[in-house]
Amino acid sequence: MTDSVVSYRRDGNVGVITTNNPPVNALSHAVRAGILAALDDAEADGAAEAIVIACERRTFHAGADISEFGKPPQHPFLGEVIDRLEKCPKPVVAALHGTALGGGLEIALGCHYRVAVPSAQVGLPEVSLGIIPGAGGTQRLPRLIGVAAALDVIIGGKRLTAAAACDLGVIDAVVDAPLTDAAIAYATDLVAAGKGPRPIGAQTVSGNEADIEEARKRHARRYRGFNAPFRAIDAVEASLRTPLDKGLVLERELFEACNATVEARALQYAFFAQRQAAKIKDLPKETEPRAVDHAGVIGGGTMGRGIAMVFADAGLPVTLLEISTEARDATLDAIAKSYDGMVSRGRLSRDVADERLSRISGATDYADLANADLVVEAVFEEMDIKKDVIAKLDATLGTDTLIATNTSYLDVNALASASTHPERVLGMHFFSPANVMKLLEVVRADTTSHTALATVMPLAKKLGKIPVVSGVCHGFIGNRMLQVYQREANRLLQEGATITQIDKAIYDFGLPMGPFAVRDLAGIDVGWRMRKAFGIGRAQDARYSAVPDLLCERDQFGQKTGIGFYVYEDGRKATGENPLVAELAAAEAKELGIAQRNIDDGEVVERCIYAMINEGANLLDEGIAQRPSDIDIVWLNGYGFPAYRGGPMFYADTIGLDPLVKHLHGLAEAHGSEWTPAPLLARLASDDHPLTSLNR
Ligand code: 3HC
Ligand code: NAI
Repeated sequence: MTDSVVSYRRDGNVGVITTNNPPVNALSHAVRAGILAALDDAEADGAAEAIVIACERRTFHAGADISEFGKPPQHPFLGEVIDRLEKCPKPVVAALHGTALGGGLEIALGCHYRVAVPSAQVGLPEVSLGIIPGAGGTQRLPRLIGVAAALDVIIGGKRLTAAAACDLGVIDAVVDAPLTDAAIAYATDLVAAGKGPRPIGAQTVSGNEADIEEARKRHARRYRGFNAPFRAIDAVEASLRTPLDKGLVLERELFEACNATVEARALQYAFFAQRQAAKIKDLPKETEPRAVDHAGVIGGGTMGRGIAMVFADAGLPVTLLEISTEARDATLDAIAKSYDGMVSRGRLSRDVADERLSRISGATDYADLANADLVVEAVFEEMDIKKDVIAKLDATLGTDTLIATNTSYLDVNALASASTHPERVLGMHFFSPANVMKLLEVVRADTTSHTALATVMPLAKKLGKIPVVSGVCHGFIGNRMLQVYQREANRLLQEGATITQIDKAIYDFGLPMGPFAVRDLAGIDVGWRMRKAFGIGRAQDARYSAVPDLLCERDQFGQKTGIGFYVYEDGRKATGENPLVAELAAAEAKELGIAQRNIDDGEVVERCIYAMINEGANLLDEGIAQRPSDIDIVWLNGYGFPAYRGGPMFYADTIGLDPLVKHLHGLAEAHGSEWTPAPLLARLASDDHPLTSLNR
């Protein structure tokens, strides 16, 4: 039988069912129905003594079709297909390559045997989409590898390599390519050895309640505020107590309940948003990216070191230029120590660390950058120094070499003008620590060429980053919104809230830290120096709070000086508020004629988060951000906005734009014109359209 997405053929005494549903063989309705029809053919084919299930192109089924989740479910459900596979009277072998994830692995678990090529990976990432495995994963995986190991895969979101999956017993054999031939040979051998079907559902589970309790405890912190991971643990717990059929019913109920939550909508939205962010609306399709085979980095401070490691980690040779041989050597030394630390913490093997380190070479002479296809500058945040560096690069590099700046606040248009080929200049704003943080703001200057953008976006993905394009403005997308968020936190302090209260309210909302604790961690002096450089103060904002600046004037920079907004023991552990903070805030309130009052936590959250939403809408109106979901991706990946709330723009839609805009008007009356709703928000609210309707 032949279907457009699933086909059946026979090879010797083995029936082969093959799916071809690009790009990732997602288990859409047509695929599910196609597999069932092909199974009918395979079962009816008297010459087929065993069956192989395989996929064409880049991967075995990478899971259910996520785009179907919001729609009414259509028979056959995935569970029905898997049930048929498990009950098939002929042995069924799954042939895995690429990423057999979610429903893909569940299909494989419904099969009686599993083989995989060495490059294959398997996993159950459902909780990252706000759901739980819904087609038997929580019932069959514990039966196959035990409760504890299954929980690691399901809750820990661990992707297993073929070798690790084989060690654990998830797959039976790692085979050489060509995969389908190897799977057919495996099936033929099974038949010859007289081995028949081997349903996992018939196996008993190894493990106990202690494993379940341990998982609940272990994941409580990581998944604070989330629902799905804990429902997945509930489902796995059921596998201990109930036979497969009952466990599957409970799993389905939990799956559906999870899929109806805002968390699921938010996380599934973020999945597509992240992929959408990589697409630049006005970039002609035919724009050819340039090859980047060698990178350069200028400046080996906090950021430069991390950026050099990003390239090295992704397999690219990188040359790092510093101002002097001493600075160069100190930087290389610091990078080596950083890799050593990863080895001693068990994060990297010595061999891998050495290989990565060997890709980084030091330099002090611009001529050593001649091989570079892209150079990222991460020198001091000063316009003249950066312009000088760009001019030097311009004079040394071939005209095709791209020049990126890691500036946080400087005008990228002005920086581009330091090059005689401004089309090759753009921003690559990495976040600290650069080798850990996923977000990369790609800043598009007025002169940046399509080629430069078409090169950097896929390169970012290769570097393991999540790129989001931003236009040029003070702070780009993320830090510009951060400033209004911090402005509100400062004002709440002036008005009588304590930093402990504000930080706790924001933590309870779901961010990993409140606005004051974060500044203590990063160094309050960073913002202070920036504001001084840009002359930001009362002239721009009559309610400007000088409290952070006054702390900095006393060398109270935060954790690194043992005192900032809070007082620290051993440099890290806060022992309490710095009493000066409330004192300075009270004096400032008096000076500004503000009567301090009791403020409730709800007001703290609303003012900090709504300020950010309003600024996000301004960024859209100004064309700085391409679409609301890009802003969400920035905040989810750069600032720890709680993923189960989908990002500030998605969150705005969950509040409803009409009530939000009304609330903003109220805040404008009480606190000033900064609160006037962004024109875009007002327009959308009056047209009854959500912000996310603009996501294209
Ligand atoms: N459903 C629908 N579309 C999907 C999809 C899925 N499961 N997985 C990927 N896609 C789409 C992407 O949106 C993208 O579309 P676009 O080109 O239009 O932007 C395209 O496929 C390619 O995806 P990527 O750009 O992500 O390709 P990569 O090669 O970088 O990554 C991947 C491939 C590792 C498979 C990655 O796409 C991925 O992680 N996909 C999701 C896997 C997953 O979560 N599976 C579980 C689904 S839930 C489930 O199965 C429930 C079950 O228990 C009932
Ligand atoms: P840093 O002060 O730690 O390091 C700067 C390095 O540049 C120093 O090692 C210095 O020796 C070197 N340098 C200065 N002038 C040079 C020149 N002419 N040629 C070669 N090397 C030179 O600074 P940091 O924090 O690494 O910041 C660098 C850039 O990254 C700045 O633009 C900053 O705004 C930006 N940034 C910083 C972040 C952070 O969290 N630190 C986050 C994102 C961006």
